[in-house]
Amino acid sequence: MSTKVVVVNGPNLGRLGVREPDVYGHQDLEALRRDCRDWGAELGLEVEVRQSNDEGEVISWMHQAVDEQTPVVMNPAAFTHYSYSLADAAAQVTDAGLPLMEVHISNPASREAFRRHSVISPVATGTITGMGFYGYRLALESVAHLLERS
Ligand code: DQA
Repeated sequence: MSTKVVVVNGPNLGRLGVREPDVYGHQDLEALRRDCRDWGAELGLEVEVRQSNDEGEVISWMHQAVDEQTPVVMNPAAFTHYSYSLADAAAQVTDAGLPLMEVHISNPASREAFRRHSVISPVATGTITGMGFYGYRLALESVAHLLERS
């Protein structure tokens, strides 16, 4: 297994810094990209951060992760709550024995009712919510821990 990790962000996360800063903070996707790369470097992981508003593209990234044996950190954004096709794709990652950590910047359980259900959590290795960008660091640490253990 490689030490590369792909960090996949779903729809509207390209609007970080502009979108609901009271919920998602004032930092943008570029800042998240830098943070994740730096945290990865500390952990011995080569981190690539991606974002797409396109469900099909995010699904293809799951397939690519399986084919290339790359662990995944994913904030599925609103796809979390309804995308069975992304859930099926995410299941292929964990079925392949690869870590897939689900991250949410906010704590969806404390927000609107529709955010309380995740179709991704049942197939994820673990889920981290409500910790802001720091949640991605915790997810990367979890991946490093799981890789070390395997
Ligand atoms: C989110 C929470 C989702 O409910 C929402 O649709 C997002 C972001 C989060 O990071 O807190 O777009 O995944």
